[in-house]
Amino acid sequence: MKSVLIFIVVLLLAIQFIPAKITNPKSDKSLEIKAPKEVMKILKKSCYDCHSNEVKIPWYASIAPASFFIKRHIDLGRQWLNFSIWESYSAKEKDKKLGEIFKSVYHAMPLPDYLKMHKDAKLSQKQKDLIRDWTGKVPY
Ligand code: HEC
Repeated sequence: MKSVLIFIVVLLLAIQFIPAKITNPKSDKSLEIKAPKEVMKILKKSCYDCHSNEVKIPWYASIAPASFFIKRHIDLGRQWLNFSIWESYSAKEKDKKLGEIFKSVYHAMPLPDYLKMHKDAKLSQKQKDLIRDWTGKVPY
């Protein structure tokens, strides 16, 4: 039993050396999405921590294994949708992404794991509807 515990502690210490640093790449401010103030407020509060180059990095994001999961969410999140470089997307891409954004706020986003640690990022029905109206997409 004791040796198992020692093994776990050593393992936890060892994985701290695996690099999983989260950074905010520099991007041109003029490429950032432009939306009405109320919409920007929601995006910044509930989406920017994974879908922007202005991620707020919590203290526990430096500790493995949490750092692995958080970094993965941010890397993937940015790949799908990065509000900091919105204006670099083509008109077609923007249109597609707006449709996905509309659907995502009713289903998957923000990620449930994230909401456990950021309760105030949960969207109210009113906020979801506001995002829907802003995207200009019709319900399906
Ligand atoms: C904790 C990180 C995190 C937060 C916060 C977050 N997302 Fe995501 N998002 C992801 C990840 C990771 C993916 C990649 C696909 C997946 O794993 O489901 C993704 C994918 C997406 C996609 C594309 C794929 C799809 O499911 O349609 C959209 C659109 C999206 N997010 C919108 C949003 C919006 C809008 C918000 C804010 C209301 C938000 N996300 C908040 C992590 C996040």
